[in-house]
Amino acid sequence: MKKFFITANWKLNGNIKMISSFFERLKLYSSVFLEKNIVIIAPPTIYLERVYKNIKNMNIFLGAQNVDINLQGAFTGETSALMLQDIGVKYVIIGHSERRLLHHETNDLISKKFHLIKELNLIPILCIGETERDKKNGQTQKIIKAQLNCIFKKLGKSVFNNTIIAYEPIWAIGTGLSADPKDVQLIHQFIKNYIKKHDKINTNDILVQYGGSINHTNVKKFIEQPDINGLLIGNSSLSLQEFLKIIKIAHDII
Ligand code: PGA
Repeated sequence: MKKFFITANWKLNGNIKMISSFFERLKLYSSVFLEKNIVIIAPPTIYLERVYKNIKNMNIFLGAQNVDINLQGAFTGETSALMLQDIGVKYVIIGHSERRLLHHETNDLISKKFHLIKELNLIPILCIGETERDKKNGQTQKIIKAQLNCIFKKLGKSVFNNTIIAYEPIWAIGTGLSADPKDVQLIHQFIKNYIKKHDKINTNDILVQYGGSINHTNVKKFIEQPDINGLLIGNSSLSLQEFLKIIKIAHDII
């Protein structure tokens, strides 16, 4: 059985009312669907603790959507990895394309975050992926290599154990246009081979999620691909009904 991680990235969405109703209803289903999949919920920072209280006795883990490169000090408005750890966060999404594009995060900054997260024994979910233009110009592999190289450059050759990589083609995020599952399979294979070339890690321990316009109608073919180890889900994770449908499909296939 392959390891399968389903991450809900709520982005800048949700409120107290939504969280209460989401978990009240989710608790009714927990024991049935949540056994085989590893489910991670990444709410906005301000709701992390509230979500943590709700998932305490469920097989669900807490994820953060971002972290600062500093652990403490005069850094107004930031959140430290130590603080995330303190309140029960286990996974931290870094390098999401929205942070790369809208907040000008560079590969170098992202590799610093990666390093810090690993040092604290948290698990990074490292997002990588190409723009539509890169894809049209045949640059997908080159972009992915650069996004991975900066991690190797900063941290040496044995860094991808206990890490999740999320391949998210930027043109597929939030657009309703998911990538072709067979193309994604090939790119995941490429990512795994490339990491394997540089890192001593066993191929089976390299975990690559796909993200970009996943919903219950298109998810099956993604789950069936051998090198897709999970999903990073934005829009479809905000509706419990839709999210549960996806979890159930994964549960039945894996
Ligand atoms: P989406 O977002 O599922 O809404 O396309 C995915 C993501 O950005 O992680």
